[in-house]
Amino acid sequence: MPDLIQDDGPIISKATIDDVPHIKSMVDAAFSKYIDRIGKPPGPMTADYSHIVTTQDAFVLRDSNVNGSKVVGFISLRLLLDSNSDPKTVSVNIDILVVDALAQGRGYGRKLMDHAENEARRQGISCLTVCTNVKMYENIDLYTKMGFVEVGRHNEEGFNRVFFWRDLSGGNHSVAV
Ligand SMILES: CC(C)(COP(=O)(O)OP(=O)(O)OC[C@H]1O[C@@H](n2cnc3c(N)ncnc32)[C@H](O)[C@@H]1OP(=O)(O)O)[C@@H](O)C(=O)NCCC(=O)NCCS
Repeated sequence: MPDLIQDDGPIISKATIDDVPHIKSMVDAAFSKYIDRIGKPPGPMTADYSHIVTTQDAFVLRDSNVNGSKVVGFISLRLLLDSNSDPKTVSVNIDILVVDALAQGRGYGRKLMDHAENEARRQGISCLTVCTNVKMYENIDLYTKMGFVEVGRHNEEGFNRVFFWRDLSGGNHSVAV
């Protein structure tokens, strides 16, 4: 797998253990606005990023135009199998997606999502999945705008979540969530 992907200035690379403190502070700043809505810190605020960067496909986005190539975004991906483990229903799940609170609305989230799509295609997987909290209503609009289709809502790990999938093949495809 290529370790560096350059795209018009912003660079996406594999996240390392050295990135963890910055990822954590970026996540805390970006997700803290949801605490009042949900009544507790959302899942990404309590995640173990040392574990994630060493066990999952996790990537940081740096922009050479921002404070000496500061990390301004993070995405972690995980292979998801349906209950029958049918290879045709494998998807790449976007576990955590975050952009620095001061750098949102500049297209970094879209670049990270494009990277997830490229990673899925590279692995021969034609489905992307993602979920968000019911009360993170802006993300429901955002994922819909990015081509995801809602496939269900249910409680998971104590959170009321909305689940989405996106077909990358153009054909019929389904995934259990
Ligand atoms: C969600 C998040 C990652 C998006 O990153 P971003 O860099 O701000 O997004 P972008 O600037 O790339 O915008 C992506 C697209 O979504 C659209 N969009 C952005 N915010 C939106 C919103 N609140 N509602 C609807 N669409 C939205 C943009 O218009 C853009 O569409 P376009 O590419 O067709 O112009 C970022 O806002 C964030 O970190 N939020 C806090 C953490 C979070 O909620 N993460 C997701 C958890 S499920």
